[in-house]
Amino acid sequence: MTDRFVKTGVIGHPISHSKSPLIHRYWIEKYGLSGSYEAIDITPQTLKQGVQDLIDQGYSGFNVTVPHKVAMMELCDDISESAQAIGAVNTISLQDGKIFGNNSDGFGFIENLKAHAPKSWSFEGKAVVFGAGGAALAIVHALLEEGVSEVLILNRTREKADALCSKFGRKPVSSDWLDRNTLIQDANLIVNTTSLGMTGQPPLEIDLKDVQAKCLVNDIVYAPLMTDLLLQAQKCNLPVVTGIGMLLHQARLGFELWHGTLPDVTKDLEDLAL
Ligand code: ATR
Repeated sequence: MTDRFVKTGVIGHPISHSKSPLIHRYWIEKYGLSGSYEAIDITPQTLKQGVQDLIDQGYSGFNVTVPHKVAMMELCDDISESAQAIGAVNTISLQDGKIFGNNSDGFGFIENLKAHAPKSWSFEGKAVVFGAGGAALAIVHALLEEGVSEVLILNRTREKADALCSKFGRKPVSSDWLDRNTLIQDANLIVNTTSLGMTGQPPLEIDLKDVQAKCLVNDIVYAPLMTDLLLQAQKCNLPVVTGIGMLLHQARLGFELWHGTLPDVTKDLEDLAL
């Protein structure tokens, strides 16, 4: 821990919707630390200069959100193994003018499941991931790191699922989106990483009634908190984990890098973020 004033923030465009300032300011206050966390709007055209300005202003680091997660990679002097594998950074630490890139999405995803899954549940068995975008990439990487033996990726556009699989070599497999109701029956984990179920979007059409009873169902969508997928899972007596925890847990890594304290995710914080 340090007594100096620690300047941090999040860069993106647009940025006003970001919940990160709320989360980090809550922790700065809770742990009695000296520091700030600002939402900083930087356009893609001014990314390089914008980052240099933060270095010049003495920032310790910052989070990176849409649309800079991939472009920011090129500005980094060093990149963590997981960010390298995912091909995107979301957490930057700055030291002596050097830029270090990390990706905390996988950590956030795994920690959220560990915090909320039933005690009897484990990562052993088949994981079915819906979607093949950036979030799916981070989650598949994290599941493989966690030692999950079987990962099945189902995406509306099959080619994108195949392309995601090929990034990891032989391990994950893809199959046909239209066969999803059959393919989930022996799953130990079902994760929705698509935008389906989000407020204003159609629900993920799925039938969970023949899924085995121990299967954990997780949606990374958190607006609404209880998506149609999670409501159906509850009706089928399947354990569920909501999506807000992934956002909160992924924020912990940056906070630890900048302040030297790994913060807790509490119910209070979850309520605040929602
Ligand atoms: P992110 O980077 O946040 O993961 P993304 O790259 O835009 O977001 O990916 C969105 C995911 O939601 C994709 O897997 C997309 O499927 P396609 O690859 O077929 O586009 C999925 N998705 C969005 N709308 C969908 C819909 N109506 N039906 C099925 N999948 C949908």
